[in-house]
Amino acid sequence: MQNQKRHFERTVPAVLAVLLAGVFASANASAQSGKTWITVGDTAFAHLQKVAPKVIAKESKVLRTSDARAKLATEETVHLVEVDAAQLAQLSEAVHHELKRCGGFMFHASEAEGKRALTKAATLATPMLSRPSYVLDNAATVNPVLAQMQASNITTTINDLSSFQNRYYTTTGGTDASNWLKTKWAGMATGRSDITVTQFTHTGYNQKSVIMTINGTDNAAEVVVLGGHLDSINGSNTSETGRAPGADDDASGIASMTEAIRAIIASGYKPRRTLKFMGYAAEEVGLRGSADIAKNFKANNVNVVGVMQLDMTNYKGAANDIYLFTDYTDSLQSDFVAKLITTYQPGLTIGYDRCGYGCSDHASWNAQGYATSMPFESSFSADNPYIHTANDTYANSGNQATHALKFAKLAASFAIELGSDGITDTNLPRVENFSGSLARSATKSFGPFKVINGGSFKAETTGTGDTDLYVRKTSVPTTSSYTCKSDGATSTESCSVTMTANGDVYVLLKGYTASTYSLKVTYNPQ
Ligand code: BES
Ligand code: ZN
Repeated sequence: MQNQKRHFERTVPAVLAVLLAGVFASANASAQSGKTWITVGDTAFAHLQKVAPKVIAKESKVLRTSDARAKLATEETVHLVEVDAAQLAQLSEAVHHELKRCGGFMFHASEAEGKRALTKAATLATPMLSRPSYVLDNAATVNPVLAQMQASNITTTINDLSSFQNRYYTTTGGTDASNWLKTKWAGMATGRSDITVTQFTHTGYNQKSVIMTINGTDNAAEVVVLGGHLDSINGSNTSETGRAPGADDDASGIASMTEAIRAIIASGYKPRRTLKFMGYAAEEVGLRGSADIAKNFKANNVNVVGVMQLDMTNYKGAANDIYLFTDYTDSLQSDFVAKLITTYQPGLTIGYDRCGYGCSDHASWNAQGYATSMPFESSFSADNPYIHTANDTYANSGNQATHALKFAKLAASFAIELGSDGITDTNLPRVENFSGSLARSATKSFGPFKVINGGSFKAETTGTGDTDLYVRKTSVPTTSSYTCKSDGATSTESCSVTMTANGDVYVLLKGYTASTYSLKVTYNPQ
């Protein structure tokens, strides 16, 4: 909690302003009745109670995460609060001065929706239906794409986006920036009938999210999402004329993504899965654009196999190059992201940190049960001190885009490694067959078979004579060390193991007598 203090001193005015804006600008029924619902963390709620004794927590839930690497408190109570808009307006000043830690908030259109979100958040460990393969097997495609990527292109996009007076969700600048991005991405897709660029319309404000879709060739129903937010905010002036360049927050994320897209298209790469690149509207006012999209995808049963969020990529505030955030994210997917970094950008160092609250659009996808990752520019406490002000400029990000280039390359490697898998990699167990013969007392080993956490591994033999079967996790079995053995008097044997973590499984066959064998292994791959 300690490391969040400075951040909240800086962002509280913004959070409050947007909270009020959200309350008053909303065209929905809750706003008309003067009430709305938000979810907030413990500390924020305690402060809200102090300044507004009448605020009611409709429901509270303890959220637990179990990521040992976070090395920080992994328990937080989150409250669904009914907020009276008029009351909040009067309390604005008091909260501005007293609230040192907000914890962010999520906006909900109704009490029922807020309760649903809270219940879902409390069961963060919802297992995914299908896991994609996290094996890195596309170096020949990834490396040439990364080699083409240029920091100067990222600089151009950051400066173009920064040149709007602001990109706030209700201003003309905010609308224009969305249209500009749509035009830019559509231009990049010229001549490709498999690529479309659309705008996603939201209710209650004009700013639209922008979505580029590269249709998958033979596994199009499985979708990989990469996103950043296109809106910006000046926390102390959210009017038409307030200056909010948002160069780092989050022109940098959009620019990193745009350079990844450019290089991917230039290479002629055609993904097997569908790739979707998203510039979200209205992130700064409670993740509203991404919440709409993630809910829409969930309602339509879209099989999103992975989500990466790029929010702030260009200010190098701490020692490591890329920090993987451990809350509201999926640890197996983030292990894969770490592997992408060590494989494709081996010079870079990785750190781990957390926001402590749903700080960006990945939380919207996480709330719908999708696997997310959030690679961030610095540790949480050493992030860019200029965000949400008129000084969030390219100059104040160190006048460079080499930091953001690391994230662009990471995004491209994520898109291609996940984009290149066929349906058989994910939805079916993998089957491998072996056959041969064994002299009496001879042994032969097979593996490693890379099995996913929670997956099962089965080995079956048939044949002549008497073959014995041994299966072992982590290392090659011996006839005295194994996880499972099957040593009947014939060559018909069977062994199954279930994994409690990603891991290697090995098989050993022994000829109890001289024998021939057919070995079939069936497993859920990593
Ligand atoms: N990019 C920030 C989130 C962020 C800031 C992450 C600093 C790590 C360090 C994002 O745009 C933002 O401002 N989020 C809000 C919360 C949101 C729910 C309105 C915030 O952090 O106050
Ligand atoms: Zn922000």
